Amino acid sequence: MGLIRPSKMINKGMNESKIPVNEPYLGQREKELVNECLESGWISSSGKYIEKFESQFSEYCECAAGVTTTSGTTAIHLALKSLGVGPGDEVLVPAFTMVGSVYPIVQCGASPVFVDSEPDTGNMDIQDLERKITSSTKVILIVHIYGHPADMDPICDLARSRNVKILEDAAEAHGALYKGRKAGSLGDVGCFSFYANKIITTGEGGMVVSNDMALIRKARQLKDLAHGKIRFTHDLPEAFNYRMTNIQAAIGLGQLGRIEDTIQKKIKNAKQYTNQLKDISCLKLPVCRPWARNVYWMYGVQLMDNERFTKDQLMVALKNEGIDTRSFFYPLHTQKAFQKYGKQDCPNAESLGKRGFYLPSGQTLTVSQVSRVAETLSQLLEK
Ligand SMILES: Cc1ncc(COP(=O)(O)O)c(C=O)c1O
Repeated sequence: MGLIRPSKMINKGMNESKIPVNEPYLGQREKELVNECLESGWISSSGKYIEKFESQFSEYCECAAGVTTTSGTTAIHLALKSLGVGPGDEVLVPAFTMVGSVYPIVQCGASPVFVDSEPDTGNMDIQDLERKITSSTKVILIVHIYGHPADMDPICDLARSRNVKILEDAAEAHGALYKGRKAGSLGDVGCFSFYANKIITTGEGGMVVSNDMALIRKARQLKDLAHGKIRFTHDLPEAFNYRMTNIQAAIGLGQLGRIEDTIQKKIKNAKQYTNQLKDISCLKLPVCRPWARNVYWMYGVQLMDNERFTKDQLMVALKNEGIDTRSFFYPLHTQKAFQKYGKQDCPNAESLGKRGFYLPSGQTLTVSQVSRVAETLSQLLEK
């Protein structure tokens, strides 16, 4: 099968022995579908692939319907708006997440309340969640961090008992399973990102999925400038243009056809890393709870106290060996942007931000590349 590897083309001339942290994998099917859009002239948000992608991806997620958007961030904004979040509401959200989970809360005029993390999975800590829920909480925004699903049963019980909605940010967890059920289908609404480094990509893009058809109708209306039954008539005081293009949906469909192979490749890479790294005492490796399918969107490790390196120094040492890595998120409650929401206590999130980084995790990695990364790490940490 023919492959198009954009980052390779962009990095033309780059030392081939370098191992990038991630590479998108685009196949012949995507090329054919995109060409069909170009040849037919269906290049905007009308066209058959949008509906196909929405129905096939939401079906994959075990949800009744899906609404495509321009990004994961706009999917979250659309979902929050469709849940009726507004000024005076609080949204509980992990301190340890990508900022795309949080800016949409602020855009709704609501306040983020940052919740601490479990030290191993990085997912929301349920005891801290229970401490921080108040009568102003409208939504619990769960993030399935780095591909490991959050422990949803106690979260759903808590939400139900307090009449609070659950939004799952599954931007990093396409195909992850919680007790056999798909991430994104476990709360009231699920949101996905299709950015180039995600498990499936449309370049940029996102989707809202749900079993609640009233919510889906609302999201559809808000995403497309709230046109009334008669076009160019509008009842809503606010709406957005968050339309994905037919070309992006065509890429997504091609990617979706291979999603299980992609996930199996990620799991295989993770198993190899764990096998090769398990005896390095200062490295904390990712875990997988017995009830989970962790899809290992990224293989994240934590460097525990040791005399040789700080995390940043180790990342530089790996870079010098041609191995690209990325830091974990810097927890958002410590950042200037969110100080006005008050001081919040999230020590585990701070520890993850200080110690964590992820290794090359792309689906194009070869067995020998994973070996080289693991061997280089071992040599650096154990020499
Ligand atoms: C957990 C999480 N939420 C939200 C987003 C935002 O998605 P996008 O970059 O498509 O806006 C990301 C993207 O990287 C993410 O990792």
